[in-house]
Amino acid sequence: MSVLVTGGAGYIGSHMVLELLEAGENVVVLDNLSTGFWWAVPSSVTLVKGDMGDEALVLKTITDHDVTSIIHFAAKIVVPESVADPLGYYLNNTAKTRQLLECAVKGGVKNFIFSSTAAVYGDVSSEPVAEDNELTPVSPYGRSKLMTEWMLQDTAFAHGLNYVILRYFNVAGADPKGRVGQSTPNATHLIKVACQAALGDRSSLDIFGNDYPTPDGTCLRDYIHVCDLAKAHMDALSYLRAGGKSDVFNCGYGIGLSVQEIVNVVKKVSKVDFKVNLSPRRPGDPAAIVAKADKIRDILGWKPEYNHVEGIVQDAFAWEKHLKTRNDV
Ligand code: UFG
Repeated sequence: MSVLVTGGAGYIGSHMVLELLEAGENVVVLDNLSTGFWWAVPSSVTLVKGDMGDEALVLKTITDHDVTSIIHFAAKIVVPESVADPLGYYLNNTAKTRQLLECAVKGGVKNFIFSSTAAVYGDVSSEPVAEDNELTPVSPYGRSKLMTEWMLQDTAFAHGLNYVILRYFNVAGADPKGRVGQSTPNATHLIKVACQAALGDRSSLDIFGNDYPTPDGTCLRDYIHVCDLAKAHMDALSYLRAGGKSDVFNCGYGIGLSVQEIVNVVKKVSKVDFKVNLSPRRPGDPAAIVAKADKIRDILGWKPEYNHVEGIVQDAFAWEKHLKTRNDV
């Protein structure tokens, strides 16, 4: 019995693989290495280099490794890129997941855990946002993920697949043991970009808008440590194996932090007073998006361990420093 992790060479997927190995699971990774790295997959794990849209390869992988559960991370994840290239996003995130689901059904897979996103909620007027909130995504990225949620739910109903959909809020941090972290070049995520500014890899950091209707005028987000997120998937897997009902859960701490607060924490942790520019709003940014976060604790029994922003930034900063010592990224 194995767990198939798609996108297991990527940022969140590589943390998941470590978590699964620590729990004694057999793991197989499917990754086309378009944004992931072969070195992020431990040598004890089979890495199948290929595409989730390749039905023959996926079915063979499911059969060869006796895959009973799939944790599906492989996706394109950059919101502005999805606006410029919607068809690329619908192909990769939606159409290819359809192929993966077909293989899951044909291969008799029992459990499917899907990486969704808070972007399915769109520009929420009230916060914190609960799972039963109206779903009005405002980007092709959010819509590509919502379409997949629906496809998964319909497939589960018709074919008896069990699923958990996890809607991630703002994922950050890195493995505290320094084995893996967010390594994508040209990243746009706030904590990573701020760490790069502190290390002098960027001359400054832009704060996109300080005229939002929030306490300090900058956007509020719910930052979750990548290891707590991986743990949420472990809890989801145990829940499904124990016969839990298919369901959707927010993954966040329910704590809103502003862009300015994050900048202050990165300056404190790095001890570098890097240059910050006040810039115009970035198109498509909601003012605030914070999870109503009790359902996952109540039903999956999820207990976050790293819900402290300084720790998140410390791990992200340590990884960013480590990346400067590598020549394979
Ligand atoms: N920001 C800056 N300067 C930067 C980078 C970001 O001010 O250099 C601001 C953004 O404007 C935003 C906040 O920091 O207000 C967070 O931005 P990120 O780019 O780090 O993350 P997003 O909130 O835009 O998006 C992330 C994920 C999405 C997911 C979403 C859900 O990238 O996949 O969280 O909340 F859908």
